[in-house]
Amino acid sequence: MIRAAITSVGHFLPEERLTNFDLEKLVDTSDEWIRARTGIIERRILKDPKKPTSYMATRAARQALEKRGMDPSEIDLIIVGTVTPDMLFPATACLVQDQLGAENCWGFDVSAACSGFLFSLSTAARFIECGKHKAILVIGADKMSVIMDYTDRNSCIIFGDGAGAVLVEPEENGTGIIDSIERCDGSNWDALRMLGGGSLHPASHETIDKRMHYLFQEGRTVFKVAIEGMAAVSAAVMERNGLTGDDIRFLVPHQANQRIIDATARRMGITPDKVMINISRYGNTTAGTLPLCLYDWESELRRGDNLILSSFGGGFTWGATYLKWAYDGVRTPEMADMPQSAPG
Ligand code: ACO
Repeated sequence: MIRAAITSVGHFLPEERLTNFDLEKLVDTSDEWIRARTGIIERRILKDPKKPTSYMATRAARQALEKRGMDPSEIDLIIVGTVTPDMLFPATACLVQDQLGAENCWGFDVSAACSGFLFSLSTAARFIECGKHKAILVIGADKMSVIMDYTDRNSCIIFGDGAGAVLVEPEENGTGIIDSIERCDGSNWDALRMLGGGSLHPASHETIDKRMHYLFQEGRTVFKVAIEGMAAVSAAVMERNGLTGDDIRFLVPHQANQRIIDATARRMGITPDKVMINISRYGNTTAGTLPLCLYDWESELRRGDNLILSSFGGGFTWGATYLKWAYDGVRTPEMADMPQSAPG
C-alpha cells in the first residue's frame, strides 16, 4: 500500500521580533495579560514590504529540498496554504514555482486560514496515494502582519509571520499518513474574516475607511468553537484507529492559544511533555504553525513515531491527521538554540 510520507522539513522565520512589551506601546494591553491568556511572549515580523509571503514560502521550500538533496525539477506539485497570498492571483504556488525554478510541476493555493497546511497535506496525500505524483511540496506560509490592525488589541497580539514546508513522497513501509478528518462550517463565517478586497467588498475608499482590509475576529466565539472542534476531531481520529494517549509520541496542534492546545491535549489523554508548543516564540503564524512545529522538533522524531496533527481556523475549518513519522531526525548545529523537548 502506498502512503504519503513527510520526508523533509524546512522553515523560514523573519529575524525581527515583536514582543509583548512592544505591543504595550501600540494598544491597551500588557505582557502579563497576553502571556496568561494566550501563552505568547513574542512573534516574528517581516517588515520589508518587498518580501511577501512567496519570499518566506520559497525559502522554507528550498531548505526542505536541500536537506533531502532533491533538485526543484523533481517536484511534481506545489501546494501553498495561505490567507496572505502575494496577490489574489496568480497563486502564490506559481510564484514559488518560479523562484525555486521547479520547471516540471503544477501548483495552487489552499485558502483555509489556520487549517491551510493541514488541508494542503491531505490534498497532497491523495495525489501520492493514487500513484500520480512522486514528490510534492506542501507549504504553510503567512505574512499576517500585513492584514493586522495594530489598533485592535483583540487580534494584533496573537499573530506573527512565518513559513514552513514539507516534502511529501510515497512510502510502502507502513509509515506516512494513515488517516485524517477534515471539516468546514461556513455558518459562523463572520466570527473570523477579512471582508475587503474580494468580490463582495472590492477595494474602495469606503473599505479602507472602515478598516475592512484587516483581519477581524470575535475572539470569544472562535475560542469556544476551536476548543470543541479541534478536540473532537483529534479524539475521533485516535478512536477510530484504536489509539490511546500512550500510543502517541507527539500531538502537533495549531498554535492559536495555549489554552486551546492544553484543552485539546487533555481531551486526547496526552501529557504536556508530548505536545509540540512554540506559540511563546512565534505567536500564531496561521498556516505556518504546524510545519514550524515539525521543524523545531524534527531532531526528536524517530521512524514509526505516531503523530496527530490538528488545526482549527477561520471559515470555520478544522481537522486532524494521524501519521507515522518516516525518518530519524538529526540534530544539526543550527538547531542548537531549539528546545530538546516540548516545554511542559
Ligand atoms: N489586552 C488586555 N485586555 C484584553 C485584550 C488584550 N490584548 N484583548 C481583550 N481584552 C479584554 C477584553 O476587552 C475583555 O474585557 P471585558 O471583560 O472588560 O470586556 C477581557 O479582556 C476578556 O476578553 P475575551 O475576548 O473574553 O478574552 P479571551 O480570554 O477570550 O482571549 C483571545 C481573547 C486571546 C483572542 C481568545 O479568545 C482566543 O484565543 N480566541 C481564539 C483565537 C483562535 O483560535 N483563532 C483561530 C485561528 S486564527 C485563523 O484562522 C486566522
